[in-house]
Amino acid sequence: QQNGLAMRPPMGWNSWNHFHRKIDDATIRAQAEAMVSSGMRDAGYTYINIDDTWQGTRDAQGIIHPNSRFPDMKALADFVHSKGLKLGIYSSPGTLTCAKFEGSYGHELQDAQTYAAWGIDYLKYDLCGLRDQIKAAPTPEAGNKIMVDAYIKMRDALRSTGRPIVYSLCQYGNDAVWRWGTTVGGNLWRTTGDINDHYSRMAEIGFSQAGLSRFAGPGHWNDPDMLEVGNGGMTADEYRTHMALWAILTAPLLAGNDLTTMTPETIAILTNRDVIAVDQDAAGKQGDRVSAEGPIEIWAKPLEDGSKAVGVFNRAPSPLTTQVDFSKLGFGHAVKAKDLWQAKDLGTIREPYTVTVPGHGVFFLRVSK
Ligand code: DGJ
Repeated sequence: QQNGLAMRPPMGWNSWNHFHRKIDDATIRAQAEAMVSSGMRDAGYTYINIDDTWQGTRDAQGIIHPNSRFPDMKALADFVHSKGLKLGIYSSPGTLTCAKFEGSYGHELQDAQTYAAWGIDYLKYDLCGLRDQIKAAPTPEAGNKIMVDAYIKMRDALRSTGRPIVYSLCQYGNDAVWRWGTTVGGNLWRTTGDINDHYSRMAEIGFSQAGLSRFAGPGHWNDPDMLEVGNGGMTADEYRTHMALWAILTAPLLAGNDLTTMTPETIAILTNRDVIAVDQDAAGKQGDRVSAEGPIEIWAKPLEDGSKAVGVFNRAPSPLTTQVDFSKLGFGHAVKAKDLWQAKDLGTIREPYTVTVPGHGVFFLRVSK
């Protein structure tokens, strides 16, 4: 069923979280340039993804054209490729997208061919415009079939082009998509509604992912939505929690900020090599919750070399002191550890290991025997 793509969770940037509808050719080029100059490309970020509102109208043959803000999509793809990056685009299986732009309904094959001709490498396919049809279906099963068929139709259309195009399903986690996402060829699927740039929403999404780890693996990932790191609505500790949690969740890392105006702190959070290595680990196993005791949650992710990434999260707004129980994590009473955000080798640490975690923060470790 799978297309052999996205063997690690996709890394890149997407226009929606920061720019919403305010996108054009120049904006996208500037983001691609900043991805290179900031060091993000070298840290592993690859995709430059244009979200909703690039679309114009169809011509007499039914071929979709970008709107006037995107004069030449092929030239834009060539530019992005010349930077060593890949270009992603967005559509909906309905007649209209969420932002009420032209969708792909009835033109799936044509659109896939157009994307391939432009040199597109990634498609986010957003259910939105099909929702009325689904609601109008006589039974929930019939509604579900409309959705599944629509995703299969675009999967087949993309495949028939022969171009490798990552297929991102966006339908907000409805109908337990993690159970059927691979059967419609999804390389990733959104598990929740939209994120926003507030700790409460980010945490609500991130910590709700417990139990989903068995549905993810190389080529098919759970997607708890794009990053808000650097957009300004959270503290640095909260953004470190966001990034660490997404790495433990083996989530796609799609930055959602303006890459041209990043502070050194934002760059440091987005490009931390140890944290990215956790997300991109070759075993491709998603982490999960180990324990929750009041506001302290411990999550762990098994890594290829037998070590584990361990996050001790404090969901309360003020600092808390807690003890970490390594035997619960499958290790003995003493472990070798590295603090990933402090970039500090802790040597061998023993139980009871006491740590103070900042409010809304995380103590993020890589531990081994
Ligand atoms: C809903 C999606 O969940 C968002 O990520 C974004 O793509 C918007 N639609 C665009 O309309």
